[in-house]
Amino acid sequence: MINNNPIGVFDSGIGGTSIWSAIHELLPNEKTIYLADNKNAPYGQRSKEEIVALSKKNVEFLLENNCKLIVVACNTATTNAIVELRADYDVPFVGIEPAIKPAANNSKTQVIGILATKGTLNSELFNKTAEMFHNTKIIEQVGHGLVQLIEDGNLYSPEMTQLLESYLQPMIEANIDYLVLGCSHYPYLIPQIKKILPDHIKIIDSGEAVARQTKNLLKEKVGFSESTDTDPVFYVNSNPKVLESILEYKYPVIKKDF
Ligand code: DGL
Repeated sequence: MINNNPIGVFDSGIGGTSIWSAIHELLPNEKTIYLADNKNAPYGQRSKEEIVALSKKNVEFLLENNCKLIVVACNTATTNAIVELRADYDVPFVGIEPAIKPAANNSKTQVIGILATKGTLNSELFNKTAEMFHNTKIIEQVGHGLVQLIEDGNLYSPEMTQLLESYLQPMIEANIDYLVLGCSHYPYLIPQIKKILPDHIKIIDSGEAVARQTKNLLKEKVGFSESTDTDPVFYVNSNPKVLESILEYKYPVIKKDF
């Protein structure tokens, strides 16, 4: 099956590029359009209604650009809005949720930690999944302030280190052996997180799983591209600087109202 239209990917900001990279690596012949709604970031403190409305606005922009499949590269938007998106639009969606399952299934201590936004941890979808693993103790921690620091380009600031220490130390003391990164911004913090966690604690995120799921959907339902135009396009609706630098200035970032 051939379908030359692009894959759309959106997040509240730069975080979803961690998912975009996994998709781009696995599917280098696909054209991608990435949307960073950084004017409205962070989503994590917003109400469900706001997150649904912002997600719909992003989807409509991607559909105007003929996207054949949309990846919701944001745990907060997935856990609060993917049910509504699937109900309202015909296009196939791939979402990202905190990877509780591999962590709980492999944990020896039966204690795992999850770092995510307030919106994700309070969502019905997250809580339903967490209930399925009631034999595992799940230590939930809201990453207050982390997304804002990342969006402001302060990844390596002393404030970031301080916040991470305050969130991770209680998990270490509770004997976690897995830390689940439940926000697509957090993989950018892995070097700092590794400095805090003892070596035996494994860190997992869902980027590669989302890329594999995207590939499966293209194969089964949507179709792969055979176009020679594979240059990714990045859009922001506020300051482009942090996205440009996270992409190491390899791709142009277009500022546009959406
Ligand atoms: N990167 C997003 C997530 O995966 C959203 C973070 C935010 O905007 O608060 O949850």
